[in-house]
Amino acid sequence: MNNKPLRKIRMFDTTLRDGEQAPGAMLRPEQKITIARQLAKLGVDTIEPGFPISSPGDFAAVQQISREIRTAEICGFARSVKADIDAAVQATADAERRRLHLFLSSSNIHLDFQLRKSREQVLAIAYEMISYARQFVERIEFSPMDATRTGDEFLYEIIETAIRAGASIINIPDTVGYALPDEYGAMFTRVMKNVRGSDKVEFSAHCHNDLGLAVANSLAAIRAGVTHVEVTVNGVGERAGNCSLEELAMAIETRKEALGVETDIRVEHLYETSQMVSRAMSFPIAFNKPIVGRNAFQHEAGIHQDGLLKNRNTYEIMDPEKLGIPRSMIILGKHSGRHAIKHRVGQYGVELNEAQLESLYVSFKEIADKQKVVYDQQLLELVGQAAGRVLE
Ligand code: KIV
Ligand code: ZN
Repeated sequence: MNNKPLRKIRMFDTTLRDGEQAPGAMLRPEQKITIARQLAKLGVDTIEPGFPISSPGDFAAVQQISREIRTAEICGFARSVKADIDAAVQATADAERRRLHLFLSSSNIHLDFQLRKSREQVLAIAYEMISYARQFVERIEFSPMDATRTGDEFLYEIIETAIRAGASIINIPDTVGYALPDEYGAMFTRVMKNVRGSDKVEFSAHCHNDLGLAVANSLAAIRAGVTHVEVTVNGVGERAGNCSLEELAMAIETRKEALGVETDIRVEHLYETSQMVSRAMSFPIAFNKPIVGRNAFQHEAGIHQDGLLKNRNTYEIMDPEKLGIPRSMIILGKHSGRHAIKHRVGQYGVELNEAQLESLYVSFKEIADKQKVVYDQQLLELVGQAAGRVLE
């Protein structure tokens, strides 16, 4: 057992900004406010409630959330453009604690085809806009967009420029979900070692899930020393989404000794938060999604069910009740064994002798071969029939 104190990882929730960029996931301002309250209850450290310049509705939502939420830091999001910065400064003016998040592309492909600017021009914009924002807000986060396809030399240069201009949080996004975990972690290690001024700033990870690696990449960044991680509830976001809040929070909670870190997330609110966001966005959750999916704590295989009934730790590494999820269920289906059937009918107060169980088991398997799940009502009907047959 490692007795070293655990390092705190700050959870930055961007469900209401990057998450809302998921195709078809639009939220109305009042829905954003309700979700922001829930995020504060969940214990996230920072909430990015939207993109104030993008619409009057988003501006109003960011403003209302800044006025109401006192326990989390509020982040105003802006391109490296004066009008965006002004809107983000105004929308977050009443926040108890706030930061501004400025981004600017850094990879050649973005510079050549999207911004159509040279590296020198991009460095000048970054310096000028961060200095401008810094006049109004002390905590400035800067993100070199598409950082993982940028190349070390220019990445160091733009980060150094951002630090000189006054940024105190450097977020290095894997914008297109391209990085592999060892690469992403090593990139932070190199940046922290080689960029002048890096010892004076905090680092943040922001991962997309195009290759299904967002959580693994975020963990690699944590191992490399970042203190902030940007996440969304249910992993919603552009394309395949962002790093999932509940998956990362539970990876840390379950393996905190191995990772040496902890978060302030109140895991008992994870499930209700996930349900709320799924409903508000009309985004169904995949049955097999870790932590919050319907099947995440359900067991069908007979061998697993048998083990669980003897000791839950045989096939469960987390206690679903601690996440606010109703006790994990054993699904009765064609893989279930006698032990699970006996246990389930026992929950209804029915004690079966061996002959009754054997008879029940045969008819149970006949039904289970025809349908995915055998429901409790059907099981109880079978119990009655089996009892009758054995008595005859
Ligand atoms: O994915 C991304 O690059 C972003 C930045 C703007 C942080 O969302
Ligand atoms: Zn993003």
